[in-house]
Amino acid sequence: MEQEYLLEMTGISKRFPGVQALDSVGLKVRKGTVHALVGENGAGKSTLMNILIGLLKPDCGTIKFDGEIVDFNSVSDALSAGIAMVHQELNPVPYMTVAENIFLGKEICYKNGLVNDKAMQEETSRLLEQLGVFIDPASKMLELSTAYMQIVEIAKAISYNAKLIIMDEPTSAITEDEVEQLFKIIRLLRERGVSVIYITHKMDEIFTIADDVTIFRDGHFIDSFPISEATEENIIRLMVGRELTQLFPKENIPTDEVVLEIKGFADSKFKNVSFKLHKGEILGLAGLIGAGRTEVIESLFGLRPRDAGEIYIKGQKVEINSPVDAINCGIGLLTEDRKLSGLFLPLSVEDNITVVNIDAYIKTGLLSHKRMSEDCERMVKLLNIKTPSLSQIVSNLSGGNQQKVIIARWLLPDSDILIMDEPTRGIDVGAKAEIHKLMSDLAKQGKAIIMISSELPEILGMSDRIVVMHEGVVTGELTRDEATQENVMKLATGSK
Ligand SMILES: Nc1ncnc2c1ncn2[C@@H]1O[C@H](COP(=O)(O)OP(=O)(O)OP(=O)(O)O)[C@@H](O)[C@H]1O
Ligand SMILES: [Mg+2]
Repeated sequence: MEQEYLLEMTGISKRFPGVQALDSVGLKVRKGTVHALVGENGAGKSTLMNILIGLLKPDCGTIKFDGEIVDFNSVSDALSAGIAMVHQELNPVPYMTVAENIFLGKEICYKNGLVNDKAMQEETSRLLEQLGVFIDPASKMLELSTAYMQIVEIAKAISYNAKLIIMDEPTSAITEDEVEQLFKIIRLLRERGVSVIYITHKMDEIFTIADDVTIFRDGHFIDSFPISEATEENIIRLMVGRELTQLFPKENIPTDEVVLEIKGFADSKFKNVSFKLHKGEILGLAGLIGAGRTEVIESLFGLRPRDAGEIYIKGQKVEINSPVDAINCGIGLLTEDRKLSGLFLPLSVEDNITVVNIDAYIKTGLLSHKRMSEDCERMVKLLNIKTPSLSQIVSNLSGGNQQKVIIARWLLPDSDILIMDEPTRGIDVGAKAEIHKLMSDLAKQGKAIIMISSELPEILGMSDRIVVMHEGVVTGELTRDEATQENVMKLATGSK
């Protein structure tokens, strides 16, 4: 029997200067199914989706949607045809209300042409109710959590009668409960015959929510099959093109030498936070989103003033009032939010890697471009950053490769203490294993690392010791032997 496909993309190619992002790939999505699209960073997933929604023009290839050959010239073309996308980085209009955002460009008006807010809000409530959530349609977009913003985007898609909704890494910035809620909504959509293309790097999500999976590697279509025929090992092998051996390679090598100690950190978001960090150690900071981990780290790095607390480096009390102070104390910070506080998107890969180290390249008033480029080349190789050249603009790199550029920046100055906030968020399994190996190597060389991670397997696998926070206080400390998923969760949720 002929399969009923809602979407058939065939022979799609796309070249950017220096990169063949897609090489004659295809994607077939059945009606009323959730289709996982997976592949390493830079495999071409987002590019294919941008082509599908009319944001990019392919060099060649055809798209058949709902029985017709289509060629969208804009996102609104695609939307009218029934394809909507919930983006990797959400860009809502912050001062609009939820209702205004949903009805943007198709406002409900009175006969005299004035906008009928009441009708729009009622309709919005109805839409959200269908999804089983209550969000005040009159609240401003900027007041919403990321999870709610996503749900509003989904409601918007439904208001356009979308037959296909694309979700690009939707769970990268939401909590576990919110993931559950999102999955409920996705199942609801599927029951109504809507198809979903679901892009993720998280294996467990694929097996929980997807019906089919398609795998890309380096711009090529590799395979596509129903989840019922898939195993995790198989998908990973097809994604990375080789066997992945050890996922968590942390060796046990910490010493007793304390390199950093913080005492009695307090502020509106946390209180009485103290811990020590040893040479050669990876200290995991665990907790749920909102536990105050990022705030403590920002305070340590001089990004956030605090009310109380002392910092000791190798036993010496130091004052850190700005990131420059922190860098001078030998501390490097890999931030959680690469777009907001980490990357300079319009600048090149080289500029982004060298920006905090620029002093090191100035001798007698002259900038040594040669040394800068050599160092950057070394980093690009070390981290396997996929870029055609060092002069590539960072905004052109795929999400995961942008993350690697920041890691390169903080590895370059050779800081003794590295703070890594969600170091592998949005990073594919292959690169993740590389970054873990690198962290382990750095610790072995005598560096000390503080790692914040919301992924329990990462915390358990990589940490020598784990400090757990809940609502701004340290609820416990676990050694490697004491650390189990259950023990960490108990402390993280504050249960006794
Ligand atoms: N506007 C652009 N200009 C130049 N190169 C680009 C542009 N957009 C994407 N690329 C390149 O095309 C390739 C595919 O990128 P894409 O964003 O589609 O990857 P992805 O599979 O979504 O990766 P990730 O999992 O990291 O999000 C990458 O090598 C990327 O650097
Ligand atoms: Mg992407």
